Amino acid sequence: MRVCSLSLRDFRSYTEIEVDFSAGLTAIVGPNGQGKTNLLEAVGFAAGLGSFRGAGDTALIRDGEPSAVIRCSGLGAGERDVLIEVELARTRPNRMKVNQQPVARRRDLIGVLSATAFSPEDLELVKGEPALRRRWMDDALAAVRPSWAALRSDLDRILRQRNTLLRQAQGRASGDVAVTLDVWDAKLAAVGDELRERRRDLLAAMEPEIRRHYRHISQDHDDADVVYVSSWDEGALADALAATRTEDLRRSTSTVGPHRDDVALKIGGLPARSHASQGEQRSLALALRLAVDGEVRARRGVAPVLLLDDVFSELDAGRAAALLETLPPGQRILTTASPVLPASVRPDELIRVGDGTVSSGP
Ligand SMILES: Nc1ncnc2c1ncn2[C@@H]1O[C@H](COP(=O)(O)OP(=O)(O)OP(=O)(O)O)[C@@H](O)[C@H]1O
Ligand SMILES: [Mg+2]
Repeated sequence: MRVCSLSLRDFRSYTEIEVDFSAGLTAIVGPNGQGKTNLLEAVGFAAGLGSFRGAGDTALIRDGEPSAVIRCSGLGAGERDVLIEVELARTRPNRMKVNQQPVARRRDLIGVLSATAFSPEDLELVKGEPALRRRWMDDALAAVRPSWAALRSDLDRILRQRNTLLRQAQGRASGDVAVTLDVWDAKLAAVGDELRERRRDLLAAMEPEIRRHYRHISQDHDDADVVYVSSWDEGALADALAATRTEDLRRSTSTVGPHRDDVALKIGGLPARSHASQGEQRSLALALRLAVDGEVRARRGVAPVLLLDDVFSELDAGRAAALLETLPPGQRILTTASPVLPASVRPDELIRVGDGTVSSGP
């Protein structure tokens, strides 16, 4: 996979720009707040990641403008030319095209031009709320098999409907409500059992790689552990839903299901969220991203473009070099505000960003 060029109109801080990327390592450099991450974010969006900073779509539209356009050309699976075009608008649905053909949903972009993004916000995977780790797992499922992206959207839709019904029931399951609830429970149980199984299988497949990457980056003898924590016991979700129906009606919400699950992360046997140092947490977050990237390579036979946003700034020199060494081959685009790159980083192309403009050179 390769991103060749990117053109933007009214995206974030940019009015209109066009940039080309090297097939090897491109470094985007410049002072803080000049639009380095914005460039990487646009590439990530074209690759189907949404905003890897977790921003909503309207935040990506240049302030005061009605819409933004991303055009990204590159080489997709089998080295075939691909052109991805996205128009984000404030007051109407986004429009997306792959090779001039309209696609309906953002998830239709997943896998056309695969990218793996590493961002400072990834620290939250380790430190933050369970929802972020669920998103990580579901993004991973979609990345290794794009059709699995439907599991999450189905789950979200079913939960919305079931929760609406629970609110309308006002604590009591009268005849009609009970019948409709049975229908939603059956749907939730089907998608829930499948999603948990897929997440567990993927996590089990990635665990050795997470441990290996963590050890390598941290140059440490502590082991990282990842354990799937489910909100219901080993049985089928249908049984758990039946058992919690009274509670769900009382609280007007769905208290069990894959939307309440989590991944417990440990370093050296201690919970990483509360016990690990910032550098250890950062190393573990990198290991989580690298493991997904490795799974995509192994299962889909493609090499995602690596987008590295500011990843070296908080690693000491040893960890930075270890990270570079452990990165899989392929195209890499990194950003840094630091005037000096680590000695081990030798870019093929340098893009300088400042005052809303970009200039490139070797
Ligand atoms: N929707 C928007 N409209 C206009 N400007 C925006 C929008 N979103 C972000 N910006 C501007 O973009 C700039 C931030 O860009 P970006 O995050 O890419 O900076 P950066 O070069 O990565 O900086 P750092 O080195 O601090 O990470 C800010 O000045 C911000 O005000
Ligand atoms: Mg930045």
